[in-house]
Amino acid sequence: MPNIAVIAAGAMGSAVAKVLTRRGCKVLTNLDNRSEETRRRAREAGMQDASFEEIGATCEWVLSILPPSEAFALAEKFIRESTTSTRLAGAPAPVFVDCNAVNPATLHRIAALFSDSSSQFIDAAIIGGPPEDDYNPTFYASSSNDSLLARFVGLSNYGLKGEGVGIGDASALKMSYAGITKGTTGLFTAMILAAHRASPATADALLHELHESQPVLLKRIARVVPPMVPKAYRWVGEMTEIAGFVGEGEGDIYHGLSQLYSGIEESGKTDGKDLEVLAKFVAEAKKKE
Ligand SMILES: *[C@@H]1O[C@H](CO)[C@@H](O)[C@H](O)[C@H]1NC(C)=O
Ligand SMILES: *[C@@H]1O[C@H](CO)[C@@H](O)[C@H](O)[C@H]1NC(C)=O
Repeated sequence: MPNIAVIAAGAMGSAVAKVLTRRGCKVLTNLDNRSEETRRRAREAGMQDASFEEIGATCEWVLSILPPSEAFALAEKFIRESTTSTRLAGAPAPVFVDCNAVNPATLHRIAALFSDSSSQFIDAAIIGGPPEDDYNPTFYASSSNDSLLARFVGLSNYGLKGEGVGIGDASALKMSYAGITKGTTGLFTAMILAAHRASPATADALLHELHESQPVLLKRIARVVPPMVPKAYRWVGEMTEIAGFVGEGEGDIYHGLSQLYSGIEESGKTDGKDLEVLAKFVAEAKKKE
């Protein structure tokens, strides 16, 4: 069983770690300056707190699973603070796997940090929610080194599923998929709020018309909007990554969605009015199911 580091112990990271510790892997993480809630999640997942130096010396894999805006800084910190000097002779440095929702350009900037490092680098993308019970998200991975990729895909024996593709493609896939799923959730949200700003009666009529002519969409709204609210803060940076992936012009819609999700996060911290509008709309939609 390999030693694996999972950074950080967020909702996804700790759930992935739990799968690995249940399979008998030793899973390290770094809890410097982390909140009590993160420490609790890490404990419950069986993760052990370790310095980056210790992680560099003892792990075969380092999985970076963070909000996308923190991905580059973590890779820099890992390279700066991990050292292979204490590794047993002949033991290879850990392979650093970026599993974050960053676009291929950001991914290439992160990969470039490893060009002079003894650590090898893999691009990976997680599609789906955190593992639980019998459910596992899919890990798509890409690398130009086939034997390295085969080693990572071998990790599926420890609970991760993989499928090999070309370098940068795992990130591109993640951007395309999240652009569709989180993009449509953003469109739903933006239009419900805009209708309500026109007048509450407009939002009611929108609901009525969706029910009459687009019942599948209305069901989807009821299903995807509520779980978006607590995650909106994470999607702010992800939308910016997607905007960069699509490129100027067309990609600008994702800058708009980034602002939308930032507004949702803000509403949660302030008067909560937008959240109330969304909750009411969803409650009415559910009544019609
Ligand atoms: C933790 O936070 C303190 C104070 O903000 C800072 O000086 C220190 O560098 C941080 N440590 C790590 C490991 O980030
Ligand atoms: C590919 O990865 C394998 C396994 O980690 C490593 O031994 C090999 O040196 C790598 N090849 C290149 C060209 O980097």
